[in-house]
Amino acid sequence: MGRALLGAVAESADFEIAAALVRSGSEAATLPIADVSFVTRPPADALVDAVVDFSGPRGFDSALGIALERGVALVSGSTGLTAAQHAALQSASRSIPVLWAANFSPGIAVLGHLVAEAARLLPDWDCEILEAHHRLKLDAPSGTALMLGDRVNQARGTVAGKPLVERSGLRDVGQVGYSVIRGGDIVGEHDVRLIGFGERIELAHRATNRNLFARGALVAARWMSGRPAGSYTMADVLGLGTH
Ligand SMILES: NC(=O)c1ccc[n+]([C@@H]2O[C@H](COP(=O)([O-])OP(=O)(O)OC[C@H]3O[C@@H](n4cnc5c(N)ncnc54)[C@H](OP(=O)(O)O)[C@@H]3O)[C@@H](O)[C@H]2O)c1
Repeated sequence: MGRALLGAVAESADFEIAAALVRSGSEAATLPIADVSFVTRPPADALVDAVVDFSGPRGFDSALGIALERGVALVSGSTGLTAAQHAALQSASRSIPVLWAANFSPGIAVLGHLVAEAARLLPDWDCEILEAHHRLKLDAPSGTALMLGDRVNQARGTVAGKPLVERSGLRDVGQVGYSVIRGGDIVGEHDVRLIGFGERIELAHRATNRNLFARGALVAARWMSGRPAGSYTMADVLGLGTH
């Protein structure tokens, strides 16, 4: 995603890389990318409007720390964060603008709305979420699958229990079930099935190119830059009305 982000910045007229951040000792620092030098900290004189993070749970604390130090917006797409990291993000939103999204695709934001509406209208139907990603993805189920499950629970006013990932035994009433596929270079596939008796509804999204997430993160960064402190969502950025 770091590379996709550098590519998206190169294609855009109104963004400049203030610092391309890597972990100390990272092989990524040796990537031959024109006009980009990699650093572990932004130089003191770098002008920063926003920190964009796709480093996952290992790099998230450092990205948040830099945004807080600089007093600028944090836009993070890191998934698999711990509860403590999510809490740190919420607490940071009292002093800087923060936006965390499990998925920066506009299509997924709209899918979330469709899923919430369908779940609200069909409160008794079972919900199963299937997701497929490339073989190197570390967390499972994906942050996007969990976000879609949260939309179902919020729409129905149910308290989310433990996500049903292991498939032995019966589900609790209303519990959202998850299935995970990992392989090859799958960019991201999400299927939400609402299953009744004698019928079902299937809502699906396919991402075919990672650049779409990078472009979405830049749209968010542009919108976030200079906002007051607070916690924002892609629904805010895209003007979808609700979270
Ligand atoms: N929200 C979205 O739309 C969206 C879309 C796609 C992916 N994601 C999420 O974004 C994250 C990255 O995905 P990916 O596929 O690009 O994973 P990846 O290939 O594992 O890349 C993560 C990168 O973060 C770097 N990193 C780790 N610690 C760091 C630190 N302290 N400072 C700076 N960089 C650090 C790693 O560097 P080293 O290689 O040197 O360890 C690695 O290059 C995952 O959590 C993924 O689920 C989100």
